[in-house]
Amino acid sequence: MYKLTQLDSWISLEKLAFKNKHHKIIDYFDADPDRFNKMSQKVAGVFVDYSKNKVNEQVLAQLFKLVRESKLDEKMSKMYRGEVINTSEARPVLHTALRNRSNLPVYVNGEDVMQAINAALEHLQQFTDRIRSGEWLGFSGKPIRNIVNIGIGGSDLGPNMVCTALSTYQHENIELFFLSNVDSSHIHDMLEPLDPSETLFVISSKTFSTQETMLNANSAKKWFLSHAQSQLSDIAKHFVAVSTNRAAVIDFGVSDNNIFDFWDWVGGRYSLWSSIGLPIAVSIGYKRFVELLEGAHEIDRHFYEADYEQNLPVILAVIGIWNINFLKANTQAIIPYDQGLQKLPMFLQQLDMESNGKSVDEYGHAIYYDTGPIVWGQTGSHSQHAFFQLLHQGKSYVPIDFIASLSQDKTTPEHNEAMLTNMLAQAEAFMIGSNASVERPHERCPGNKPSNVLLLDEISPKTLGALIAVYEHKVFVQGAIWGINSFDQWGVQLGKKLANKMLEDKQGVHDSSTAGLLKMVQIK
Ligand code: F6P
Repeated sequence: MYKLTQLDSWISLEKLAFKNKHHKIIDYFDADPDRFNKMSQKVAGVFVDYSKNKVNEQVLAQLFKLVRESKLDEKMSKMYRGEVINTSEARPVLHTALRNRSNLPVYVNGEDVMQAINAALEHLQQFTDRIRSGEWLGFSGKPIRNIVNIGIGGSDLGPNMVCTALSTYQHENIELFFLSNVDSSHIHDMLEPLDPSETLFVISSKTFSTQETMLNANSAKKWFLSHAQSQLSDIAKHFVAVSTNRAAVIDFGVSDNNIFDFWDWVGGRYSLWSSIGLPIAVSIGYKRFVELLEGAHEIDRHFYEADYEQNLPVILAVIGIWNINFLKANTQAIIPYDQGLQKLPMFLQQLDMESNGKSVDEYGHAIYYDTGPIVWGQTGSHSQHAFFQLLHQGKSYVPIDFIASLSQDKTTPEHNEAMLTNMLAQAEAFMIGSNASVERPHERCPGNKPSNVLLLDEISPKTLGALIAVYEHKVFVQGAIWGINSFDQWGVQLGKKLANKMLEDKQGVHDSSTAGLLKMVQIK
């Protein structure tokens, strides 16, 4: 039986955390002038400097030993081989197969899933090419200019984040919209200026039963049909769907050819590489969508093949474990110094928190150590002028990932310089802190706060694909060490169930707070 807290490495790490309590990160730099070179690594256009963490060689050695003692290699090869590692849902986990550009077979129940993946990619390519070339015509004979993706969670955040980050590659005549909130103002405000004859809806839902998505999809259908010249038969030209639930999609009215397949072994938050990435492919073109897959595939291979000591996802994962379990950080800030990456914190929030926000292990036993952190963040310039105060002088210990691109718009060098120097100055300030005179204690910043700096060669499909895959595998490694199933999300079911029950039975028995509030919102 796997008992994490009884592993030799875990016990050593606890001792080291106590022994090194008063160590200063900056002193590690004084002791080893080569620390930056030793504690940085570049793979697939993603450079990571992890030297500004409270780790020395002893700590790192024990962290890598922990990875070995927790048998990551076995768990990793089970995932890549398509074994059922999402045990509570009895499913394999194969987002790596979706971007398996080597095309080597991957078997699930004796069947090579690469055939179905390649067929789905071909379908995606044909559709994407027809939309982008203007060959796909709406009911009035005009080409499509607006794509509205209707989806939520994993069926929204990934494509939305990637399309925003890669907006410089966007097709000049096609605009992308992401409709996710069930709040009616979202759909009203979004659709109001659009011409239905030039608008195509993509209903993205793995289950095709998510309440928010289905309400928005039905309202979009009504909006479309209420337009003067459109008819029921025109739905085929204006609605496509991405789902594993073909029967429900057909029932909704989408024609068979317009259903893009994916499979139950793709988790929602890991699905942007599948047909759920359709808005990305339409926006940047199929060829560039494949580059996104290639970037991720390069990291998949690196993750599988590289020694742990040189393995980017493993390094980031163990640094996180050290901060969370031994230095008692319970949050992780993601701070991109790049406007294009503004949606990355939200995407990583779902990726990490829905995967590792668990309190029982994969066998259902209660866990008594800390697991997934609260992931949050905002673009750097905005963060500095909002919440960095607390990070510098507050009582919380918050590790930070700073993320930026080395390739910036050449027309505004002064902006780029200001942005990147601010990022580096902040990372330094968090580490070195500042002293203050006895009379002015409020000026003191204690420092010794850890951070990683991630620098991308550029924000291209390939490097972005690589960056996302680094984080996906980081989350996997942490889940493997904590002994949890990172691929289910039973915690979100309870709220969904109670909301449906409340909608069906407004007179139901509730506590006095819920009953009082129900009365106030006057749900009829
Ligand atoms: O409620 C959480 C969740 O199940 C996520 O895991 C998922 O990404 C999202 O809802 C959307 O689900 P679907 O794609 O089935 O509509």
